Amino acid sequence: MPNAAAAVIGLALITAAAVASAQPPAGAASCTGCHPSSARISSPVPRLSGLDRDAIARAMQEFRSGQRAATVMDRLAKGFTDDEIQAIAAWYATPR
Ligand code: HEC
Repeated sequence: MPNAAAAVIGLALITAAAVASAQPPAGAASCTGCHPSSARISSPVPRLSGLDRDAIARAMQEFRSGQRAATVMDRLAKGFTDDEIQAIAAWYATPR
């Protein structure tokens, strides 16, 4: 039954891809230590979830270059490459 075997393998690959895409990109898990992950948590630090992808990426780049004043984000943003910033921005801008 080659078709059934192919279907099982195909399903396994799809499942693996779904699991992989549910994992946050490098560095993204650290953000929720300060930025609340739930609307029920009240904090002076704004939530990242639901922010616009470009707004997150732009803010990170401005923090990193010192263009935008900050207390902690300027130091933190220096640890991320452009690619990492894009991946993190996409992660938080995607509703889940
Ligand atoms: C140590 C606490 C802390 C961590 C960890 C942290 N942030 Fe922040 N973030 C802040 C604070 C505080 C501000 C307000 C600006 C400032 O004073 O640095 C802020 C502001 C921001 C803003 C601007 C939001 C807005 O609407 O003005 C963005 C975007 C952001 N952080 C992204 C991130 C991302 C992405 C990460 C993870 C890589 C992260 N932050 C990790 C504390 C943190």
